[in-house]
Amino acid sequence: MSKLLLEALEKRNSKTPIWIMRQAGRYLPEYNNVRKNFPNFIEFCLNSDAATEVTLQPIDKFGFDAAILFSDILIVPHALGLKVEFKKDHGPIVEKIEKEDDLKKLNVDVTVFESVATSVTKIRKKLEKSKTLIGFAGAPWTVASYIIEGGGSKDFANTKIFALQNEKTFEKLIDILTEATIKYLSLQIEAGAEVVKIFDSWAGVLSLSQFKKYVVTPTQKIVTSLNQKFPNIKIIGFPRLAHFYLSEFSANVNIDGIAVDQFTPMNWAKENCNGKVIQGNLDNYTLLSSKDVISREVRKIFEDVGSKKFIFNLGHGILPQTPVENVYHLVEEVRKYGS
Ligand code: CP3
Repeated sequence: MSKLLLEALEKRNSKTPIWIMRQAGRYLPEYNNVRKNFPNFIEFCLNSDAATEVTLQPIDKFGFDAAILFSDILIVPHALGLKVEFKKDHGPIVEKIEKEDDLKKLNVDVTVFESVATSVTKIRKKLEKSKTLIGFAGAPWTVASYIIEGGGSKDFANTKIFALQNEKTFEKLIDILTEATIKYLSLQIEAGAEVVKIFDSWAGVLSLSQFKKYVVTPTQKIVTSLNQKFPNIKIIGFPRLAHFYLSEFSANVNIDGIAVDQFTPMNWAKENCNGKVIQGNLDNYTLLSSKDVISREVRKIFEDVGSKKFIFNLGHGILPQTPVENVYHLVEEVRKYGS
């Protein structure tokens, strides 16, 4: 049974696999139909039947080569006992850590991770054998930023200042998140995830020395631990917005694949990422444009890479306002150039 995504991560693919970030999401009417039954987004993520259903929707519809578990990076702070809320049109709200003493309340409730693992088991059972199942977690830096800011932010100023002024406390928080993430991803792998992706959405807002300390080192700890426990696991890193720090990351983190955002050319990534398999990097706004423009931009990515040996994806998550017919067109174009 050929599995295009795994073959690509082992550099033995003759075709280009495609999946897209946030492929189970608000641009899909089927997703919104299930979503409306859950006023509480965390409960939705932890309901294994609902999570299984929405994970499989984009595979059934578009024939992507991989399913990504439906969940959220903020499940880890939730499992650690912090209140996490998603208010409509507001983005996430997370209970803050403000001082050293607050760290005492962080204790993993493993039953939260176990319900996600139950989803993984159910998805793997229903997913076609030729499709790969991707598990994921947020990287410690990005998750810590939501905890310090109390939600999203434009510049992560509070987190950067906190890390500089309360270095010891911040390092402890990063360590707690690193350990929780190892536990969380291990359970996903044991339940049937064949690839895991570590989302570091805000990796690019740090100075190089902080990038090494808060992005590279904790991610490498997670990767080393997973590789020791699960020698066959494939891991994709996503230090988003990292630009030329991608080199630093790739040279020091033992991942198999590197997700490239739309701000770094694929050919640069191919040359500068220590031989990692590259994944990317169509600008998600392209899918709000016309079919002709989509075709042109897809072709450019294939020309930029100069080979079929990469993983096609967007540079960031698909936007809720994306027309479904453009996704069909995207897949057709990728199959045309990538087969
Ligand atoms: O890719 C997939 O299909 C898998 C599911 C997935 C979700 N979130 C589902 C989701 C994944 C991989 C994520 C990762 C995630 N979550 C990240 C890292 C990747 C990135 O996009 O940078 C981050 C930073 C989060 C935190 C988060 N969760 C935000 C900022 C939001 C948007 C808040 C809002 O209301 O606009 C979410 C909510 C979320 N996670 C949705 C989905 C489908 C939409 C929520 C809804 O249906 O109301």
